[in-house]
Amino acid sequence: MDTTLRTARPESPASASLADTAGTSAAQARSAELEELVRDDPGRFRVLTGDRPTGQLHLGHYFGTLHNRVRLQNLGVEMFVLVADLQVLTDRDVADDLTGHVEGLVLDYLAIGVDPARSTIFAHSAVPALNQLLLPFLSLVSTAELGRNPTVKDEIAHSRQSAVNGLMFTYPVHQAADILFCKANLVPVGRDQLPHLELTRTIARRFNDRYGSGAAVFPQPDALLSSAPLLLGTDGTKMSKSRGNAIALGAGPDETARLIKGARTDSERHITYDPAARPEVSSLLLLAALCQNRTPEQVAADIGSGGAAALKKTVTEAVNEHLAPVRARRSEYARDRAHLRRILREGNERAAAVADATLAEVCTAMNSHY
Ligand code: TRP
Repeated sequence: MDTTLRTARPESPASASLADTAGTSAAQARSAELEELVRDDPGRFRVLTGDRPTGQLHLGHYFGTLHNRVRLQNLGVEMFVLVADLQVLTDRDVADDLTGHVEGLVLDYLAIGVDPARSTIFAHSAVPALNQLLLPFLSLVSTAELGRNPTVKDEIAHSRQSAVNGLMFTYPVHQAADILFCKANLVPVGRDQLPHLELTRTIARRFNDRYGSGAAVFPQPDALLSSAPLLLGTDGTKMSKSRGNAIALGAGPDETARLIKGARTDSERHITYDPAARPEVSSLLLLAALCQNRTPEQVAADIGSGGAAALKKTVTEAVNEHLAPVRARRSEYARDRAHLRRILREGNERAAAVADATLAEVCTAMNSHY
């Protein structure tokens, strides 16, 4: 499946320029190597991934990153999955319905197949020692470096806030603490996160140089870029919850059918896969292809001159069939809120124990054990 999808990568000019500055092609080559190493010896790797709990995860997340995490878990890689609740405050004053969003995110994780027996699901605010790493880490970066981060600059440019708060400016350092507290050495990310990964590597290196007295306290983690393409939303622009064009993972079959029915297409009756000339139709073909483990060209050939109506019917059926087990698991977990809370509490406890041990090492290295 991967090889066919690499060819289709609709991209906005903004994200392309971001990607260039971050050295995407090097990261891409390294990712291919890493994939092989993971297959050979999954036990060598510890993965950390995470999301901000700001709303429901959607199909763009699912095929972009979530699917990949479960694949890694199932290959036998140890995984930490972070609900980045403190990072929500980078571009808003108050995190609305935080509990609801946190629980929704945990539900989504469980629904897609994150197994709490094998993977640790936890939240920022429940792991004090993780947050404590932020202070020494901040001392390892210059304000000029923070100001240069292209992803942060982009987020600031698009922020609706009238003033940029200090967390927006420093959250990439916090993200380094997210990754390094558990000494993760592999971080599956999208291209926009590459500058943060680079900063994490810098912080790890500088900490080791300054305080390690020859020994490496922290690994320098690698980014693992997924080969999945960007899915467009129902209006033909990048799928994103803030644009109101997303199909949520938690949506039912009827809502999914309604959303796909309203999706933009074009007036050409014969359906072909042509991402450059026909982005909307091609993204729908891609979505069906991802669900059915086929190529978009195969899906297009089956529809032929059936037009947009036949295309939408195919996509709706493909999505609903693919998501049926995910939805079934989601509603099963949603029925027992106490169980959900217990899973998160146990994950928090596991993460806190790991963070305590790392912080103790850091204090020893820094001679601040009193
Ligand atoms: N910044 C990520 C996002 O917006 C979320 C995140 C927080 C994260 N901490 C992380 C991702 C650590 C990878 C590693 O989606």
